[in-house]
Amino acid sequence: MSLLARGAEPPRDCPLCPRLYAFIAGWRMREPDWFNAPVPTFLPAGGEAAARVLIVGLAPGLRGANRTGRPFTGDYAGTLLYETLIRFGFARGRFEARPDDGLELVDAAITNAVRCVPPENKPETTEIRTCREHFLVPTVARFPNLKAIVTLGKIAHDSTVRSLGLPLRAIPFIHGAEGEAGPLRVFSSYHCSRYNTNTGVLTEEMFVDVFRRVREYLGGVGE
Ligand code: URA
Repeated sequence: MSLLARGAEPPRDCPLCPRLYAFIAGWRMREPDWFNAPVPTFLPAGGEAAARVLIVGLAPGLRGANRTGRPFTGDYAGTLLYETLIRFGFARGRFEARPDDGLELVDAAITNAVRCVPPENKPETTEIRTCREHFLVPTVARFPNLKAIVTLGKIAHDSTVRSLGLPLRAIPFIHGAEGEAGPLRVFSSYHCSRYNTNTGVLTEEMFVDVFRRVREYLGGVGE
């Protein structure tokens, strides 16, 4: 498929961001058994039509999603995220930080604003924009029954709001805030990174509260 075709998933050798392409190429040499490629969206067991909430993270962690190939799998951020999703019925099974742990998403899909691991977890503005235009815009549009989006951190939040065709002032990034984007409700959270939880920027209770409200908004099973 042409890179300019509006598929929601980047090809394994996506060349659109030369810096990220070179970074991954270096890690392919060093760690040939790692995934080392753009990380695809994690879909619910029922496929695209089953996703009512989309969770948008920042980018794969080097030794997390970039190593394992599944968003938020293999680094600290995933433990809090997946435990919270299981608690509110957005995932079932056991999270064991391996892509073959059998964990299934329910009602939910997980993607990243930037699909390739960036050096030092810091994507550049052009990389965020390129990945948005090519992949985040079609990802947000691919779920026919989507009702809610949870954005994790300001970079993911701002790129998601832009991908919805809105100016940032329409839904400013504030932890715990909610905003309307047409038929979608956007829930914003601080990123569940180890740095944010270690420094107390984000407590487990603050994070859990966001997903409690998403569950209330969508109705159905949960805690
Ligand atoms: N892993 C991801 O896939 N995304 C993040 O934002 C952090 C860790």
